[in-house]
Amino acid sequence: MKRIAIPAIVVALLSGVLMTVLAQNTTKGAEAAAPAAAAASAAAEPPAEVICFESRKGATEVTQRELKPGWPNVKCSPKTGAALWYGDPYDGTVPMGKMPLMEGIPEGNAVVKPRTAKLNLYPMCGVACHNGVGPTFSPPTLPKDKKPTATPTMAAMVPDLANLQHGRGRVWCLDCHHTTKRNMLVDHFGDPISMDQPQLLCGKCHGDKLRDWRDGIHGKRIGDFTSTGKKRWFTCTECHNPHNVQDGERNKGFIQLEPESPPQLPKGFTDAKFELTHPIPQH
Ligand code: HEC
Ligand code: HEC
Ligand code: HEC
Repeated sequence: MKRIAIPAIVVALLSGVLMTVLAQNTTKGAEAAAPAAAAASAAAEPPAEVICFESRKGATEVTQRELKPGWPNVKCSPKTGAALWYGDPYDGTVPMGKMPLMEGIPEGNAVVKPRTAKLNLYPMCGVACHNGVGPTFSPPTLPKDKKPTATPTMAAMVPDLANLQHGRGRVWCLDCHHTTKRNMLVDHFGDPISMDQPQLLCGKCHGDKLRDWRDGIHGKRIGDFTSTGKKRWFTCTECHNPHNVQDGERNKGFIQLEPESPPQLPKGFTDAKFELTHPIPQH
């Protein structure tokens, strides 16, 4: 699995922007060729809201809007609804925060999209039933240990929690969530981690993946391609559902993707047979 997955991710990483531009041109060739016409027609019709997902459907949705006239923040695949092209790769991002071994990256050049902005329940996590500190709002009893207990109220709100698919029964809520600061994740010392830095949480158990991610061979970055240039890093939970990593047909929490349409044929070609006869250069 690693052999297939990692080169695919590397290719995606290196050619993400190029590929997405190409893919976009194939599906929306006419529009790309005549942006002025497209803009004019868009102005005439009432704008329909276009929402696409960036990496995890249902958790990374972004609404299309214009950054400047005729220049959208994102272009979406009409086939899959996935984000294919960015008008500004840093739109909506914040500095990643301190990460060990990333001190060499100039301040503000590693940015992420905050996860907290995407979590529906987040604003409630740290208040009322869960703040665990105030006398009025403390839960009746704080858990004395981290052992699994039924969480029907939570499962009613987040169905993936009903049958938690992470760690094959060896990982439970408070291995990841802070016991008293419920709007925070937790590190190995019991100290809180921001939900905007899930890489610090995941990395405490998946150190190999954290290293690969830091080195740029796992995950995805977009933006300036020079090594210390400004980039948006996709965080772990933008791709992985932490409550469902082991579900899905391949036991990895990813459902099979619907592929994009094949690329457009070169001008003047009626079929793709030329690909079969194209000479392979001999060295
Ligand atoms: C492997 C670590 C891990 C475990 C185990 C875990 N969580 Fe989470 N949980 C997270 C992370 C990380 C997030 C933030 C998700 C994101 O960024 O999309 C989260 C988010 C949430 C949210 C907010 C969801 C939303 O959409 O607003 C709730 C509620 C929650 N967890 C409850 C629980 C409960 C209850 C359990 C135990 C039954 C549990 N979690 C187990 C890591 C974990
Ligand atoms: C407390 C330790 C712990 C934390 C924190 C943790 N994991 Fe895991 N994770 C595990 C264990 C244990 C497994 C199960 C490995 C197995 O038995 O195959 C697992 C499995 C996985 C798998 C499936 C791997 C496979 O080969 O099937 C993925 C993907 C994953 N975790 C991603 C994450 C992400 C993303 C985060 C952060 C949101 C995270 N993990 C946080 C312990 C952890
Ligand atoms: C851009 C999306 C993306 C990001 C960001 C991402 N991953 Fe992954 N991850 C994947 C894909 C795709 C796979 C391969 C899944 C498969 O093999 O089916 C994977 C696989 C994994 C696995 C299982 C590996 C195995 O051996 O099979 C773990 C564990 C994991 N990721 C953890 C992490 C952690 C920790 C982070 C953050 C530091 C992270 N991922 C960030 C997309 C991502």
